[in-house]
Amino acid sequence: MGLGSVIYRKEGHAAIITINRPEKLNALNENVLEDMKASLDQAQADSNVSAVVVTGAGDKAFVAGADIARLSELTVITARDFVERGQALFDRIEKFPKPVIAAINGYALGGGSELAWACHIRIASRNAKFGQPEVNLGVIPGYGGTQRLPRLAGRGIATELIVTGRQIDAETALTMRLVNKVVDMEQLLPAALELVESISQRSPSAVRFALQAIDATAQLPQDEGMKLEAQLFALSCGTADHKEGTTAFLEKRKPVWKGA
Ligand code: COA
Repeated sequence: MGLGSVIYRKEGHAAIITINRPEKLNALNENVLEDMKASLDQAQADSNVSAVVVTGAGDKAFVAGADIARLSELTVITARDFVERGQALFDRIEKFPKPVIAAINGYALGGGSELAWACHIRIASRNAKFGQPEVNLGVIPGYGGTQRLPRLAGRGIATELIVTGRQIDAETALTMRLVNKVVDMEQLLPAALELVESISQRSPSAVRFALQAIDATAQLPQDEGMKLEAQLFALSCGTADHKEGTTAFLEKRKPVWKGA
């Protein structure tokens, strides 16, 4: 389905969201953000979707950042709304109840890097380039970069990347543990879809609880996180999937998940 700025399609158990402004290197504007939100609504509501893959159209860019033409017009008054919209979408991705995999197919700069940092899992093609170049434009990252990147890469690496604005290639991002895997471009989507198919074999409710528990590591001290883990573990033991998963193991058969 084409929403204008985004293509939404399904393959196997995956919902694939492709940001589709290749002539502007998939730069993010209001339409892209709106269309991504509508795509996430569909993926969330569809019980056949086990996980989401986010990628960019073409083989040059994942997302080359927020739209600089739009950025140039912002004032102190309008800027707040501009960043809060992007932050709200990326927060939704981070808290999405199904895994969201970024398939990074080229430049991931500014808001493009921040989109990747918000996803649960990142796979990059060899030509991918990451960076937070906002300091070159007289601004700071505004879609979560100053908050998520230090948590992912540690404060020293994040500070270096943010205050120099320098780009790093996929292999460097791998050594910084910013991406899970680097593959050839033609393997990018197959690698993401392979992960989705693996996830689709697991209990959907357990996957959802696991995402919730992992997300809490960004907000909670460890002892509070342990309490949340105990609560979610207890809840998972009240699901039909718990009954089915354990029974199927003992009966030496494959489980048939209910997702509840
Ligand atoms: N916002 C708006 N338009 C953008 C864009 C962005 N973030 N990034 C690229 N584009 C546009 C270019 O203006 C150009 O449009 P045009 O053909 O109408 O002139 C088109 O996309 C192609 O980009 P171009 O710069 O010609 O490609 P390149 O291969 O020479 O360079 C980049 C690629 C990614 C290095 C370069 O486009 C760039 O530095 N982009 C901005 C990155 C950035 O600072 N992002 C953070 C924003 S907060």
